Amino acid sequence: MAPIKIYKNYIHGEWMESAGLQTFENLNPADRGEVIGLFQRSNETDVEAAVAAAKSALPGWRMTPAPKRGEILYRAARMLTERKEELAADMVREMGKVLEEARGDVQEAIDMTFYMAGEGRRQFGQTTPSELQNKFCMTVRNPIGICALITPWNFPMAIPSWKIMPALICGNTVAIKPAIDTPLSTYNLVRVLAEAGLPPGVVNYVTGSGKQVGNAMVEHPDVRVVSFTGSTEVGRSVSQACAPAFKHACLEMGGKNVIMVMDSANIDLAVEGAVWGGFGTTGQRCTAASRVVVHKKVYKEFAEKFVERAEALTLGNGLDANVQVGPLINEAQLQTVERYVQIGNDEGAKLLCGGRRPTGEATARGNFYLPTLFGDCSPAMRIAQEEIFGPVVSLIPCSSLDEAIEIGNGVAYGLSSSIYTQDVNQAFRAMRDMETGIFYVNASTIGAETHLPFGGTKQTGNGHREAAVAALDFYSEWKSVYVDFSGKLQRAQIDT
Ligand code: UN1
Repeated sequence: MAPIKIYKNYIHGEWMESAGLQTFENLNPADRGEVIGLFQRSNETDVEAAVAAAKSALPGWRMTPAPKRGEILYRAARMLTERKEELAADMVREMGKVLEEARGDVQEAIDMTFYMAGEGRRQFGQTTPSELQNKFCMTVRNPIGICALITPWNFPMAIPSWKIMPALICGNTVAIKPAIDTPLSTYNLVRVLAEAGLPPGVVNYVTGSGKQVGNAMVEHPDVRVVSFTGSTEVGRSVSQACAPAFKHACLEMGGKNVIMVMDSANIDLAVEGAVWGGFGTTGQRCTAASRVVVHKKVYKEFAEKFVERAEALTLGNGLDANVQVGPLINEAQLQTVERYVQIGNDEGAKLLCGGRRPTGEATARGNFYLPTLFGDCSPAMRIAQEEIFGPVVSLIPCSSLDEAIEIGNGVAYGLSSSIYTQDVNQAFRAMRDMETGIFYVNASTIGAETHLPFGGTKQTGNGHREAAVAALDFYSEWKSVYVDFSGKLQRAQIDT
């Protein structure tokens, strides 16, 4: 057997061991016996070094013309494209999602990198008339400073790219901490950026726990911007840690997304959307369709077809081309799912399929759980209210669009929602009234594209959006510029 590879931190352009010389194992969730690599269990000293590197690189990077920054990103995007297969396979091994989904994850990183590279030649501000003669008004975007980026394990290359690329194109420098379960995909992304010619210190990569590394990054006095994707609970503490120094914080947190199936819907299409929205990525998406509200007239047909499709899904190692659903990320997540299934049973929901770990050789060594569907759920049940982050879907009957919207909005979160209907009036009403940041018509709750804002309302987020021009708004600060070329004292209305 080949020796286990040791992966290092990337600080100031060098691959370095942690000052504490400790490592942790990155395991394959489909086969816990496979160690993918050893990664640095970093500490505060490493964070200190990473932030110092980002600080020293800031003046040079800020002064690099944005189109030149963009050229490096273009190069990185092309390299990601060339290495897509290899990167996707690495991702399957550490995260467990199936190969096709891993390709999609890498593709999102490619798309985001190209998109932000192009912003090197845009980053538009405004030019406006002045109140006065011979005076000119405009706005320019300025970088903010050092960004601490803390990313989750479910999209281990896409989400780091959503944060790194806009931060860089705006002229900021970065320290990133990937989730402890999936450090390899972010390592691969950072390596590409390094090889594409990013100057030392512009991006720094430090692996380890949230407690040791994440907290130290967020609390570091030189860090001005924090972007976090993860649970609402951790997001709240990040927000609190940012408040005293008024750090800019972008928080992307939980979801309890809904698909609404009306009686006019194309049922087969809706079932397909519910299956992939609910069980794609083993339900471990913040956009997952974990609730399906179905009109009573079509409820029975929908439920039967859903069960049939869910029971036919093939579980196993995502590298196997026949496999459609991979494992959960780790044992703790598997236990969370088991706990919620118990809660659902205790609450009186009707278990329609799944509800246990699978048996059989293909799933024996991993964190697998059968796609699980609960029927006849009431909207107030905990399984229909709380984010489970696993392959568990609650079916809720309804009698009208109004009721569906009320149920759909009746949760603490507001990321994504969807309606299946043939009635254009219903589609537009739902679009107007759903309290979510993302809305789909006749498509599932997943599959957001990189050039539209991504994020949610209520306890899903804190009002910022990722991706698209919205990301530039987060990673830059406006400067309003007035140029008076009259050669005499002119006073604005407010001064006189
Ligand atoms: C997430 O689950 O955190 O829209 C992100 C989607 C993907 C991104 C999901 N493009 O489902």
